[in-house]
Amino acid sequence: MNLEPFIYEIWDSVYYILPSYAANAAPVIFGGGRPIDAGRIFRDGRPLLGPRKTYKGLVSGLLAGELVALAQRRPIEGFLLSLGAVLGDLVGSFIKRRLGWSPGAPLPIIDQLDFVAGALLMASFVSTPTTRQLIWILLVTPPIHLLTNFIAYLLKLKKEPW
Ligand code: CTP
Ligand code: MG
Repeated sequence: MNLEPFIYEIWDSVYYILPSYAANAAPVIFGGGRPIDAGRIFRDGRPLLGPRKTYKGLVSGLLAGELVALAQRRPIEGFLLSLGAVLGDLVGSFIKRRLGWSPGAPLPIIDQLDFVAGALLMASFVSTPTTRQLIWILLVTPPIHLLTNFIAYLLKLKKEPW
């Protein structure tokens, strides 16, 4: 079997979503400090987003995503992918808090795909991947996310290995 077309197709799909990867990864390095929810508690008595969703994380995510977007010469589309990624990640944390999961506790699928879902939704104002690209994005993002998080853990950038 010739794998080359598959590898090309997977790379093409990852290339499309790449700004969102940068937007999701940067906060691990540059995040921290003032939390976006300012310690606010939701009506269920749990934190709105939790202390790990910070302004520095949000801004560094947007900047890192835009850097990739500019390198790819798609500033608007890439900005929407980055904005969607950081917002999708916040929605993911909001959902985790509502379920009673502590910050950092693993929630499979949501943890790996919240930012991609946000990115695709936001970018849909200007573009949509093909169905095949979408399937590849959904298939390859979770393992890539888990692997990069594990590396970040080994580098002591992250407290949890997931
Ligand atoms: N981060 C941040 N600001 C953000 C998003 C992320 O500072 N807006 C940083 C935090 O240090 C966070 C790390 O990036 O711990 C990894 O983000 P993520 O894995 O999404 O958060 P969790 O620590 O798992 O927290 P949660 O349970 O809320 O998802
Ligand atoms: Mg998350």
